Amino acid sequence: MTRDIVTNDEIVALENRHGSGLYTKQPLVLVRGEGARLWDADGREYIDCVGGHGVANVGHANPSVIQAVTEQIRRLTICPNGFYNDQRAKLLAELIRIAPPGLERAFLCNSGAEAVEAAFKFARISTGRAKVVAAMRGFHGRTFGALSATWRKQYRQPFEPLVPGFVFVPYNRLERMEQAVDEETAAVILEVVQGEGGVIPGDSEYLRGVQALCRKRGALFIVDEVQTGFGRTGRMFAGQHHDLQPDLMCVAKSIAGGLPMGAVLIGPRVGDLPEKVHGSTFGGNPLACAAALATIHYIEAEELPQRAAELGARLMDSLKAIPSPLVREVRGLGLMVGVELKGKAAPYLVALAESGVLALSAGATVMRFLPPLVIRTEDVDTVVEQVVKVLQVS
Ligand SMILES: Cc1ncc(COP(=O)(O)O)c(C=O)c1O
Repeated sequence: MTRDIVTNDEIVALENRHGSGLYTKQPLVLVRGEGARLWDADGREYIDCVGGHGVANVGHANPSVIQAVTEQIRRLTICPNGFYNDQRAKLLAELIRIAPPGLERAFLCNSGAEAVEAAFKFARISTGRAKVVAAMRGFHGRTFGALSATWRKQYRQPFEPLVPGFVFVPYNRLERMEQAVDEETAAVILEVVQGEGGVIPGDSEYLRGVQALCRKRGALFIVDEVQTGFGRTGRMFAGQHHDLQPDLMCVAKSIAGGLPMGAVLIGPRVGDLPEKVHGSTFGGNPLACAAALATIHYIEAEELPQRAAELGARLMDSLKAIPSPLVREVRGLGLMVGVELKGKAAPYLVALAESGVLALSAGATVMRFLPPLVIRTEDVDTVVEQVVKVLQVS
């Protein structure tokens, strides 16, 4: 049996020895969270602007999620999809209630990449076509289908050949999309705000133009809300800023208050899906469904989308006011905020962590802030103070 591991150094050494080695890690051991605060194994406190990469919208150790999960784990954890379940039925109804109009059904899975994979399969089977148009700088996950729609060479190249039929066009350029979408296109997939690609908000005219183009050419419009969903950008879903009505909408990350879950919401243009063409053992398990129900109700009761809009504006305005020659641009939507620097972001993120604020990168030069939407106003102000300091001293 492993003896009790207590110190930061011991934990780091074990993960380094036995982990996959796939992740670039900061030398920080996080053992506890509450709201938008995290603590390491030595008891040091941090303001969290990583938010579990956009998972922790309702905050760490959210009391409503804890209660729902505790009750459900005592009752029933798994219910195969060949049977019906109360939590699953309620969650499906709630997802459809809060979704953009037109989305009527949902497939439940366990992650963002799985949601994207499912959406591609549904698009192929529904249209009988195989081509997918995706955006340069887009990120949709790391399984073969999702990776085939992901732009960054570093992620793709080692695994080629990928799924055939994927083409890339520049984001926010409608005329290039018009050239790419044709009678062979099954779907276009876009993020409403490109996250990993550098926090790049899509223009309303562009997104709505792509949607209209899809309708005209018989392709399906897949909107990837994995990172932007559940209040993050100031609306329940980012596409609602632009009145988008996707044919397929992928969600994951924050849907279940921190538990693994994903979903594809499905509109009428997709048509009926034949039985057995897709499935998932854990998808729609009662535990994740109970957590998601509690999460959605908490987001609504606490008006977190509105909070994200207000605090996001405060954060973005304050960051824009920093008179640093190192900053190229500050951009974002709600509490999804990027600061593009003129050089590499990594050293500044390390310095920020040393000062007690955790944030993440988005590509090489962008500092990305994805705090839990429950972050306190004072904490937002502290984040800005620390960014100011870091950009001055480094
Ligand atoms: C927009 C978007 N789509 C898909 C994914 C993949 O999600 P997952 O890591 O849960 O597979 C991510 C993850 O960062 C994402 O940001």
